[in-house]
Amino acid sequence: MLKAGGALGAIGALSAAAPARAWTWSPQGSVAGQGLGVDPRWVWDPEADQLVASLIDRGEVPAVNALLRTWKKNGQALPAGLPADLRDFMEYARQLPSWADPQKLATAVKFNEKRGLYLGVLYGLASGMMSTVIPKEALAVYYSQGGADMKDRISKTAKLGYDIGSVNAYLPEGEMIVTAVKTRLVHAAVRHLLPQSPYWTKVADEDIPISQADIMVTWHSLPTTVMRKLNDWKVPIPENESSAFLHSWQVGAHMLGVKDEYIPNSWAQANSQADQVLDPILRATPEGVKLADILLNLGSSVDAGILSKPILGAFTRFMLGDEIAGWLKIAREPVWDNLLKVAWGPFVAVREGLLPFPLAPKAYWLFDEFLRKAALLFLSEAKPISIEIPVTNRPS
Ligand code: HEM
Repeated sequence: MLKAGGALGAIGALSAAAPARAWTWSPQGSVAGQGLGVDPRWVWDPEADQLVASLIDRGEVPAVNALLRTWKKNGQALPAGLPADLRDFMEYARQLPSWADPQKLATAVKFNEKRGLYLGVLYGLASGMMSTVIPKEALAVYYSQGGADMKDRISKTAKLGYDIGSVNAYLPEGEMIVTAVKTRLVHAAVRHLLPQSPYWTKVADEDIPISQADIMVTWHSLPTTVMRKLNDWKVPIPENESSAFLHSWQVGAHMLGVKDEYIPNSWAQANSQADQVLDPILRATPEGVKLADILLNLGSSVDAGILSKPILGAFTRFMLGDEIAGWLKIAREPVWDNLLKVAWGPFVAVREGLLPFPLAPKAYWLFDEFLRKAALLFLSEAKPISIEIPVTNRPS
């Protein structure tokens, strides 16, 4: 029953195997405002999962990937020649939800433009590094096909962060709908493929990866974590921009196949869901530690001077704290660790016009330079990448 995907009826049978912590977050706090309250750890994406499993079994994925390479813009017609069942699904999956608010999405673009530098660093170093201590995600990423080439994988994942924040995001000229629908197909493929990996099955404590709960966990490592950090840093954000940023990610979750009853309807609800599903599950795995090391080494290929591993490591420690830095075996960097502790707050205040500008010491320009380089590394570099449905797992 589980293997078939939408195993709602199996909840009772599974409760013995489930971790002790029950799902208690109420669907009343969701964008749907109601729902059955079914534990999303046992809900996947039945429509996409069966379809993509069948495409893989029919050997049609390479031809589909070739066709989908030409499908780039939200407003573009699907390429001719797609299998009929896939085309029908994609036509349905590309529709924005009825509750998508164009006005809010436009405000989100303004917010992303204003805050692009912070967002680049936060997506990369807070969300990206956090993904390595989300055990199920780290295992899935490590043992899937993309795990063998992390640089390529990171730029593909960063494409989503880029697309959701770009000027046309969900408009016909934008690319976010395309990226989300393709990602939904990739996740469905992973659900079919990973259970066939002898390496993943040995270490995973689940039969099928990427449940709706898992997607929301990762979702919280993105907008919820980003907003928590911006608030910690006292970056002034008008209420309408903050809720618009949330809205762009609510629509994003829907487009990734998350049911509306699991998508929080406010930051307060998002925080309460994250308290329950994200914060308690973070922990180290050998695979996550290896992924984090690869991430920290990425900077050296872009700019050996300013983004070298010690600086990225110090920023990670600063953003995620000593405990997580310790799990990831990130070395202490006395100079950078202290500089960030002492100077980051005033630096943000100067940037935000909350402190007088002429007093800014030299270190602030270093931070500014760092922000620019890191934003480039984690966001802009991702632009020309095409997301493809995998047909295999990591070979070893
Ligand atoms: C692929 C984003 C949740 C595991 C991707 C891709 C994107 C993406 C953009 C395509 C990039 C590529 O093909 O490499 C997201 C977002 C999520 C989310 C925005 C939540 C909001 C998850 C979760 C897991 C997961 C919860 C696992 C527990 C994977 C794996 C791949 C993938 C294994 C394929 C890697 C490969 O073989 O290439 N995801 N993802 N994702 N994602 Fe996610």
